Amino acid sequence: MELDFDLPELAGRAYPILASLVTPRPIALVTTIDAEGRVNAAPFSFFNLLGAQPPICAFAPGDRPEGIPKDTALNIRATGQFVVNLVDEPLAEAMNLTAAALPFGQSELEHAGLTPAASTAIRAPRIAEAPAALECEEWGTLRIGKNRVVVGLIKRVHVRDEIYDAEAKRINSDKLSTIGRMASPHWYCRTGDRFEMIRP
Ligand SMILES: Cc1cc2nc3c(=O)[nH]c(=O)nc-3n(C[C@H](O)[C@H](O)[C@H](O)COP(=O)(O)O)c2cc1C
Repeated sequence: MELDFDLPELAGRAYPILASLVTPRPIALVTTIDAEGRVNAAPFSFFNLLGAQPPICAFAPGDRPEGIPKDTALNIRATGQFVVNLVDEPLAEAMNLTAAALPFGQSELEHAGLTPAASTAIRAPRIAEAPAALECEEWGTLRIGKNRVVVGLIKRVHVRDEIYDAEAKRINSDKLSTIGRMASPHWYCRTGDRFEMIRP
């Protein structure tokens, strides 16, 4: 099959088809604060790590159907900061609850029973229950058509103690059970089934 999303019969199908093909995607559970310091949290799977010198990541918060930017994007515009909290299996259900469209200023963290923990490099809090969190400063936001791509400089990383081997300065992947986003809209995967392949 060859698909051309410019054809009228595929209008509106780019998102469900591509989001089901490009899998698994990591999930950023992004915490931000508004100008008054109120905390917001929402998951984004149009997300990835993009570089290490300096460490950068990016994610893409779209607009709501009415054309208004999502709260996460509004808060980053106001404060220039956000935290990417990684999502593991125990955090999956709560992450899903944070995707509820609550009124602006109402905390999804509270709604999902999650606990804010102070960040060190920025004002937006991280999530205490997350296995790891990346404190980010907005480097810039790209507008590509209706897409909005927020690029962040990772200023500080928090990792649950058991996941970090301090002597080897490595992540102990056996202790990290991140989940991935699969076919749109409701599918996920576990990442416990790994295999090793040595590079030639
Ligand atoms: C696993 C998952 C991944 C999501 N990924 C995205 C995404 O990449 N971009 C986006 O705009 N919305 C995404 N959403 C939907 C947002 O989380 C949802 O619109 C949320 O209400 C936005 O919250 P906010 O207005 O507080 O920023 C995703 C939802 C889930 C459950």
